[in-house]
Amino acid sequence: MDALILKLRRRHRGHFGLEPAVVSYAPGRVEILGNHTDYNEGFVLSAAIDAGIAFGLNPSGTPESTLFASDFDESVRFPAGHPGRTDKERWSNYARGVYSLMRVKYGFEPQGFLATQLGDIPIGSGLSSSAALDIASGLAFAAFHGLAPDKIDLARIGQKAEHEYAGVNCGLLDQISSLFGQAHGLVFTDFRTLQVKSVLLPPGYAFLVANTAVKHALVDSEYNERRRRCEEAAAYFARVLGPRVKTLRDVSWDDLERHRGSLDPAVWNRAAHPIGEDERVLKGVDLLHMGDAAGFGRLMFESHRSSQIYFQNSCPELDTLVEAAHATPGVLGARLSGGGFGGSIVALIEEARAESVARALAAAYEKAHGHVIEPRVVVPSAGARLI
Ligand code: GLA
Repeated sequence: MDALILKLRRRHRGHFGLEPAVVSYAPGRVEILGNHTDYNEGFVLSAAIDAGIAFGLNPSGTPESTLFASDFDESVRFPAGHPGRTDKERWSNYARGVYSLMRVKYGFEPQGFLATQLGDIPIGSGLSSSAALDIASGLAFAAFHGLAPDKIDLARIGQKAEHEYAGVNCGLLDQISSLFGQAHGLVFTDFRTLQVKSVLLPPGYAFLVANTAVKHALVDSEYNERRRRCEEAAAYFARVLGPRVKTLRDVSWDDLERHRGSLDPAVWNRAAHPIGEDERVLKGVDLLHMGDAAGFGRLMFESHRSSQIYFQNSCPELDTLVEAAHATPGVLGARLSGGGFGGSIVALIEEARAESVARALAAAYEKAHGHVIEPRVVVPSAGARLI
């Protein structure tokens, strides 16, 4: 992070000729267990990672704002009071959205700014570079306007920016993980109460992430479709089981089995994934408390299997990596991480064998898909902050 912040300051000075008055940082996240459970008010184990987005700004002294994306050396200008949404520099919609939504929530007078954003999370890796940008920009805008927003409010603003400015109806997982990250700890979130707890990984183990570097077309519309199906299933169960069912969180695997014949099979399959995942997360937390890394790893493999057969949000590239992980000594479990349809897998590994595991996964991937990848260990890290 320190190197990224230094680089941000340098790039900001280079572009605007000023030392940034406010600097913030927000990490990306890795989803460890609990896939597509957040918007079903279920449970997730995740971690903030040691890569993120840095954001720096100064007042412009004019009614106009400039946003500089130092990663691609592009900049864009817009009226401070009306950042709007654009179809051209889409990368700018996250910060524009966050600024607009913060203004609606907190009612401040808009002020022009000169801002630089810079990250070290590979875009499209499924490690939530966009949520990190929502949160980093939100923290910087808050400081710029003398506000100290509640973390959950800030997470919701970031989520709304994704819905309204980027068109993805995501849950709160990415923003919460970025804000509540713990150095060396996993983030265990109950997405009904939004209570967050820290869970430790037994010593000697680590998480390794391998990025397929693919993002299949229609990812966003597939994501939104999965969410609609889950809501359809929850509405069905509310009809047949009564008002105790608000979301799929309230439906057990037994309930699901009993209604196998009466629910559209496509909807049934979609519902099976988050329902099974919730059970796996709760079991997984117990296993970690008991120091049972092998048992936890098996749940990760089951989670991936559930993605493949029920939710159909995996793809051949992700499957190659999970299969290779399964066959590699030193790996306890592996699964896709995040929305799916591309992005990364996460594997639980014996820390001492990180290098050989990374080599084995890279070799299997190159053989199957002709592409060189660089799997790497991610370190659970502290959450977003002002620098
Ligand atoms: C993406 C979304 C999250 C969550 C995951 C799947 O990362 O942004 O809200 O739904 O997919 O678990």
